[in-house]
Amino acid sequence: MAKIRFDHVTVRYGNHTVVKDFSLDVQEGEILGIVGPSGCGKTSLVRSLGGFINPDEGDIYINDNLVYSKKKRVNRPPETRRLGIVFQDYAVWPHLSVYDNVAYPLKKRKVPKADIDKLTRQALEQVRMTGYEKHMPAQLSGGQQQRVAIARALTSSNDVIIMDEPITNLDAKLREGMLDEIRILQQKLHTTIIYITHDQEAALQLCDRVVIMEPTGDICQIGTDEEIIERPANRFVFSFIGVSNFIPVIEDQGCYYVYEKRADRCFAQQKPEGFISDRPCVMGIRPMDIIFDDESPIKGEITQAVFLGTLFNYFIRIGDAELRVQRSMLDSLDGREYKEGETVGLRFLNEKYYDAEEGEVRK
Ligand SMILES: Nc1ncnc2c1ncn2[C@@H]1O[C@H](COP(=O)(O)OP(=O)(O)OP(=O)(O)O)[C@@H](O)[C@H]1O
Ligand SMILES: [Mg+2]
Repeated sequence: MAKIRFDHVTVRYGNHTVVKDFSLDVQEGEILGIVGPSGCGKTSLVRSLGGFINPDEGDIYINDNLVYSKKKRVNRPPETRRLGIVFQDYAVWPHLSVYDNVAYPLKKRKVPKADIDKLTRQALEQVRMTGYEKHMPAQLSGGQQQRVAIARALTSSNDVIIMDEPITNLDAKLREGMLDEIRILQQKLHTTIIYITHDQEAALQLCDRVVIMEPTGDICQIGTDEEIIERPANRFVFSFIGVSNFIPVIEDQGCYYVYEKRADRCFAQQKPEGFISDRPCVMGIRPMDIIFDDESPIKGEITQAVFLGTLFNYFIRIGDAELRVQRSMLDSLDGREYKEGETVGLRFLNEKYYDAEEGEVRK
């Protein structure tokens, strides 16, 4: 069985349902990412798991033990749940030294004194903070503070750590470094990690599996990075995991057409198989998957061209839609320049088709 199990969990604040009928198994030793837009209920899930709020329905298991069930009247107090949690908003206690921050969970569990010292020093070593024991948090950088918070999570639990947006406040370079450290730590200790964030890129980079939540709090996809990038479950996932373009398309006699309303024309795109077109449809396409091709019958007008250091960014009007197109430096080596105001031919690769209203995959 899973290390952590949410079984039909519902959380309400007053009559506002934030998490509805949420079920999820987290496997032993995996890094599982939970990603979703702000307000979708991620922290509420963490609080429920930690025992800081009581869900209105459902059961929660940690290591096969039922720790919460409203129906069965089980509610084990937070300190007995043995979870390491790195919280979103307050990472470390400012009034305690680095050492005391990390030793605190052990003291609270009344671990023998000699063991407290040993385990505290071990945890600090794991996060490369040996030598900072007497420092106060205010004397540390943001990245160092986060490492202390992770060390404190390690002294709270050997086997399950939950990180709720642990690195949001760090700059890009530090963030990258922390992700590597978390991964290395996990490989060393085989800890199960639940990593919560609204940064989909970080989650896809770090995690073995990622859960994508919709703004409503529903899970819309669970998968590896490859599955999610290659086969987004619906339009929301497609738009959430990277820069995306959506173009309305219409179908006529088995062909897709990119509708060019202004000129009152349709352009043949391709002949898909098994496409049913009783409802409006959109094509989802990434900026890097749009190719300039003068031979293509699909034409657009470059409204803006911006050079971004390593790539060119173009905004292109096609019918009523505005597309973002990116070309790498390498693509640009053909010597052909594309300027604002110019009309260009476009080809699409790896395009996906979604129901325009429901957002479900079409095909
Ligand atoms: N104590 C509370 N009382 C009432 N409503 C709350 C409380 N805590 C959270 N909420 C509401 O519940 C919803 C979900 O909040 P939650 O903090 O779980 O979201 P989140 O996914 O963690 O968002 P973020 O990415 O911004 O951290 C929000 O609409 C929030 O306003
Ligand atoms: Mg949150």
